[in-house]
Parts: sequence; C-alpha cells; structure tokens
Amino acid sequence: MLEAIKNRRSVRFYRDQPVTDEQIEEVLKAGFCAPSGHAAYPWHVVVVRDQCVKDKLAVVHKWSKLLARVPVVLVVCVDRTQQDLWIEDGAAFMQNMLIQATDMGLGTCWVMMREEDPNGPVHCALELPDHIAPVAATAIGYGARYPGPHEPVLPQDKVHLNRFLSK
Ligand SMILES: Cc1cc2nc3c(=O)[nH]c(=O)nc-3n(C[C@H](O)[C@H](O)[C@H](O)COP(=O)(O)O)c2cc1C
Repeated sequence: MLEAIKNRRSVRFYRDQPVTDEQIEEVLKAGFCAPSGHAAYPWHVVVVRDQCVKDKLAVVHKWSKLLARVPVVLVVCVDRTQQDLWIEDGAAFMQNMLIQATDMGLGTCWVMMREEDPNGPVHCALELPDHIAPVAATAIGYGARYPGPHEPVLPQDKVHLNRFLSK
C-alpha cells in the first residue's frame, strides 16, 4: 500500500488513451469504501466524459484548466442534508480514489471544486440539485508526464508527543 501512496502524484498532462468504464468502476468502489462521519455515506459522484461539461469545469478557476484536456473527470459530491462532516467525508472519498487509481497505473490530479452556492458554476455545469455540494474533482487518465514518486519523510519538528508545546 505504501507503494501506491508514494507513487501518487498530481499528474497534469495526459496521453490520448481511453480509460474504460470498468477501470472507473474500480476507482469508484475504492471511494465508496472510505470512512464516513456518523456512517452517513453521503457521497455522489459525477463521472464526466462529455467534453462540453469538462470545458465548463475547466473555467471554474485558474487551477482547473487542466480538466479540459483529460480523459475523464470525477467530481465527488455530498448530500449536505445527510452530513455536517461533508468536507471530511468528501476528502476521504477522494483520497481513496486517488490511491486506487495510482495502484492501477492511472494518473490523477485533485482539483478544488468545493461549492456551496447552488447557483455556482459547478452546480450549473453538472446540473446538481441544491442540497448536493461538490467537494473536489480529480482527473483520471494515463499520464504523459510524471513528476516521480514521493520519498517518505518523517519531519521530527512536526511530530509531537502528547502535547504540542512540551519540551
Ligand atoms: C485540497 C486540494 C486542492 C487542490 N487543488 C488543486 C487544483 O485546483 N489544481 C491543481 O492543479 N492541483 C490541485 N491540488 C494538487 C496540489 O497542487 C498537489 O497535491 C501538491 O502540489 C502536491 O503535489 P503532489 O500531489 O504531486 O504530491 C490540490 C490538492 C489538494 C489536496
């Protein structure tokens, strides 16, 4: 498992090689195994293959541009009527998907997409109902440029025993 965690990097350039529905399903299954506050499991995912929808997501902010040129975009959403811990739940879902996709040899890139305003651009692009909030998106595809794996480090000045300020 540590291999997949080390190998997960943000991939922002992708090959023109399709990702199958079966591969996407494997990635989604990992998401749905995530921990959820109060066992609410409030998740919904929008699988975006439509170029027109990708183009709308790509202009949501300046760091989302890559979404226009990726094979698939997965947008993690939560039902906010079910869960006050919706951001945490969405993030756990996302991270599980990123690790699974990496383990399958696929590239990913987490892209900010949190939106509470039901009239916001993500709600409009995905036709989300008001009570559904997007938390984050990821690109999925075969990477064309890979930054190289992480080398695990344990920064001693950031690890605290019992209390933060104890000497
Ligand atoms: C909450 C969150 C939001 C992020 N949003 C974006 C984004 O909008 N666009 C982007 O290109 N990368 C985004 N990233 C990816 C980070 O830039 C990336 O994780 C960081 O630079 C470390 O690189 P690595 O993922 O390769 O380890 C986001 C990551 C997180 C966790």
